[in-house]
Amino acid sequence: MASDSQERITSITHSDVEDAYARWAPVYDFVFALVMKPGRKAAAAAINALGGKVIDVGVGTGLELPMFNRNVRLTGIDLSDPMLEIARKRVAEQKLDNVEALLVMDAMNLTFEDGVFDAAVVPFVLTTVPDPVRTLDEIARVVRPGGEIVLVNHIGAEKGIVAAAENWLGKHGPSLGWRPEFPWSIVGDWIAARPDIKLLERRTLSPFGLFTIVRLARN
Ligand SMILES: C[S@@+](CC[C@H](N)C(=O)[O-])C[C@H]1O[C@@H](n2cnc3c(N)ncnc32)[C@H](O)[C@@H]1O
Repeated sequence: MASDSQERITSITHSDVEDAYARWAPVYDFVFALVMKPGRKAAAAAINALGGKVIDVGVGTGLELPMFNRNVRLTGIDLSDPMLEIARKRVAEQKLDNVEALLVMDAMNLTFEDGVFDAAVVPFVLTTVPDPVRTLDEIARVVRPGGEIVLVNHIGAEKGIVAAAENWLGKHGPSLGWRPEFPWSIVGDWIAARPDIKLLERRTLSPFGLFTIVRLARN
């Protein structure tokens, strides 16, 4: 169910995501490899400390895949086949044998049984999905009790000139493919509504505290 905060963010549809990432795919690594690298590294470090069977939700071109230890068995899913095509090439070229599957799938309707993963990693995805709350519910469903969920995202400013700029840019969310204005309250309200979810860590990352890593325990 949509939270009040979620109703205030720009609406993005599945076809917006597919169109935007079909456009981004050929240049995605060139534009986003470096600036988001600290976030991917932090997410991979958190997952490497756990090991096991992990779902990478919104794996995209798979920039994070080589950062995982080989004892992490990964299933990557994404709505965008052009993004996944690049991930498939990366896996083949770098012989990433621990990547067990790369599947076209909607994060809001995962086709896996309950509790089949030890952990989920979700780097730079929640701000892009049409319904972040439903996505969080689905991720929590497929992670086993005792498992962890690792999110990395840009969290929008609450006020001031940065918030104004993000709100303006957010109007272009459907063509950009993400929402720069994404408020923490979407995640915070979801955690508060879920007795089975506990916040373990919330920490800003470089560059300039632009991104935030959030670690959640699934009880
Ligand atoms: C900004 S990219 C992040 C890719 C990768 N995790 C990274 O760190 O570079 C966001 C990805 O989320 C995917 N995505 C958006 N909505 C989705 C959905 N409903 N289901 C699955 N993937 C989705 C997009 O196709 C895109 O590949």
